[in-house]
Amino acid sequence: MNTKQSAATAVAAPAMDVERVRQDFPILKRTMRGKPFVYLDNGATALKPQAVIDEEMRYYSELGANIHRGVYEFSETASALYDGARDKVARLIGAPNPRQVVFTKSATESVNLIVYGWALKNIGQGDEICVTEIEHHANFVPWQALAERTGARLRFLPLVPETGLLDLSNLNDLINERTKIVAVTAMSNVTGYMPPVETILERAKAVGAVTVVDGAQWVSHASVDVEALQADFLVFSAHKMCGPTGVGVLYGREQLLEEMDPFLYGGDMVLRVRTDKTVFKEIPDKFEAGTPNIAGVIGFGRAVDYLLDIGMDAIHAHEQQLLAYALEQMSGIDGVTCYGPTDLNVRGGILSFNVGDAHPHDTGSILDEDGIAVRTGLHCAHPFMCALGIPGTTRASFYLYNNREDIDRLVQSVRRVQEIFA
Ligand code: ALA
Repeated sequence: MNTKQSAATAVAAPAMDVERVRQDFPILKRTMRGKPFVYLDNGATALKPQAVIDEEMRYYSELGANIHRGVYEFSETASALYDGARDKVARLIGAPNPRQVVFTKSATESVNLIVYGWALKNIGQGDEICVTEIEHHANFVPWQALAERTGARLRFLPLVPETGLLDLSNLNDLINERTKIVAVTAMSNVTGYMPPVETILERAKAVGAVTVVDGAQWVSHASVDVEALQADFLVFSAHKMCGPTGVGVLYGREQLLEEMDPFLYGGDMVLRVRTDKTVFKEIPDKFEAGTPNIAGVIGFGRAVDYLLDIGMDAIHAHEQQLLAYALEQMSGIDGVTCYGPTDLNVRGGILSFNVGDAHPHDTGSILDEDGIAVRTGLHCAHPFMCALGIPGTTRASFYLYNNREDIDRLVQSVRRVQEIFA
């Protein structure tokens, strides 16, 4: 992938002091079911460091004011913190201009904003939309609904179940002169597979298609440079990267954002309103109608600082080490099937597996008894599961505060599942 991330895997990243990092996360001091808590559900949401919790609380206890409306000190301070978070996010992903960063409520809303703001007026009968078979529903269902509504054809880059990789042998047919949108994940939430986004985007650009990259599982785990990536749009969410829930990001190419219609209409997104006509603000404000999640965005700004202080390359390298260790340990357990590519260079820190014929929910319940949190089931990726031909998986997903002991506890508990269901 043509981003800073490929360099990160090639060059040794600075070491991370995981035991010191763990001190920053209050929930890690808790027990669950009477056992020391092991959190391996980071693909669903990440834990929050105390600094982020404090930052959000500080807004409520010390400022409390709305933004972009008051001329008094506390409102101006809140506005500066909110807009400052936008600058931080822009720096995090290498966006040339903070105006290219729109705050939404989730990555899902960001995709819907593209659908309603751009795609509905640019896509019609005879056009094609290309997605992959491994998308999370957030980057699949909106495109399917768009296709149904407009008469466009939805096409898929297929998964090769045996290798866990995408089959790009028909790339030029699947992305062709009729293709208007190509939407692809940068990291699968099921297996951590990082598809060759660069190759897919290159083909999309050759035919003039608009490109959407789902970075919900990626931006939180690796250095990202949107200039190098050359995607038209990138979506991700704060809560998967140590930030609060209820905040998403849409990064977009300036010209496309300017062409797009607002998705929500109302206060704060307008310059002038008359009974016959309303003039909207410039980007990104025209997309942020109403009072936004002020505390959440400010907390997100603090989360970005926190991650950058540790270093995205160091976080990525740490997760790669955990993944390698986990795969090695799991391979020693009879009847365990792990999913996803064997080449760790194309994977992030996610491990989906099954234990013999045990249903993933049963596996998850036994892990829960042992104080371990994982996700089980279909992972909001039904087409992916259909392609694999399985009813679901148990998914352990890692983040910067996980350590080898967490993996040892997981492996010990999986052995118990294996014994119970053998
Ligand atoms: N997208 C989140 C997950 O994969 C919720 O679990």
